[in-house]
Amino acid sequence: MTTLPDFRLETYFSRWEFAARYHLTASDAQSMRVDELLALAEPADREAFQSLHLGYTQTYGAPALREAIAGTYDTRGADDVLCFAGAEEGIYIAMRVLLGADDHAIVVTPNYQSAETVPLSICEVTGVPLDPDDRWSLDIERVAAAIRPKTRVISINFPHNPTGKMLERDRYDALVALCRRHGIWLFSDEVYRPLGPPGTEHLPQAADVYERGISLGVMSKAYGLPGLRIGWIACADRALLQKMERYKHYLSICNSGPSEQLALIALKARDTILEKNRRIVGDNLTLLDAFFAEWPEHFDWYRPDGGCVAFPRYLGAGTVEAFAADLVEQAGVLLLPAEHYRSELAPTPIDRFRIGFGRADCAVAVAALGDYLRR
Ligand SMILES: Cc1ncc(COP(=O)(O)O)c(C=O)c1O
Repeated sequence: MTTLPDFRLETYFSRWEFAARYHLTASDAQSMRVDELLALAEPADREAFQSLHLGYTQTYGAPALREAIAGTYDTRGADDVLCFAGAEEGIYIAMRVLLGADDHAIVVTPNYQSAETVPLSICEVTGVPLDPDDRWSLDIERVAAAIRPKTRVISINFPHNPTGKMLERDRYDALVALCRRHGIWLFSDEVYRPLGPPGTEHLPQAADVYERGISLGVMSKAYGLPGLRIGWIACADRALLQKMERYKHYLSICNSGPSEQLALIALKARDTILEKNRRIVGDNLTLLDAFFAEWPEHFDWYRPDGGCVAFPRYLGAGTVEAFAADLVEQAGVLLLPAEHYRSELAPTPIDRFRIGFGRADCAVAVAALGDYLRR
């Protein structure tokens, strides 16, 4: 058990996210302005936004929003959805509710830091690494070997931050079967779903295929709307949802009403927004394929399976930290070096960096990176 350490990635972003000229490590898709989103709305929803009463809202989330979120699942209804202030609040509350001091959790490494530090602040945690030498594969036998009598949660995240790995379908099914056999909760961070280049095949959502599957979703990534701070958990277990709702009374209490209405509008325009963002991601990936082909002595490129981030290897002179620091100072291009993905649970590669390709200005940022390398 440990206290919560600084969130390294967020600390780095506090310094650089709004200071760097080119954010080439963003983990969200292209965002939009309020008027652009409202232009996609049905007239009644636009009117509802403009005449919204700014009182408290329901802790579970607005009924129409929960209904729209449930519509993104095959088998879940509005009552199986609890909204949060972003995905981050969902991670925190879920772990606090699911785990006690005597429990044990299993977490994939590397990871979005709170995936391991929140459980580590509660109980014992085992890390199971993705294999960087085998296309970031997850060995389900290794997960099985880590299970203890007290294991209560297995936590995964596919498409994965930072590698862009998508677990293969047969391994996913084996993982679900393993959890079911042991009665373990499968906490599945699905925030990068359904993003990827056009035609990406996504895994089923955990809440659709497993009675103890907990699906974490959000408006931040695929929809490009992180400023709304609307996330959710979908789960078939309503008693668990209610415990999480009680915990939420100690944190955000309820979501922002304007954000709920804007999220509803975005979900109703889901096909339009996702098609646009998938096209941007597809075009940017083509661009990155060409860029990395041009610099084989400097980088080793692993083309991600989904999402909008990747984790290439830095092969150039010096450390990747020194490279990233000089790059942002000299050329204003922000990358995220691997040290921010260091894990307390398992060794993680130290020669990588996260690159983001969800945004429309990716080409300009990559051009600035190319100019820097040529200099
Ligand atoms: C895997 C993963 N989960 C959760 C989050 C938190 O999302 P939000 O900013 O919407 O709270 C992030 C943000 O980068 C993430 O990458």
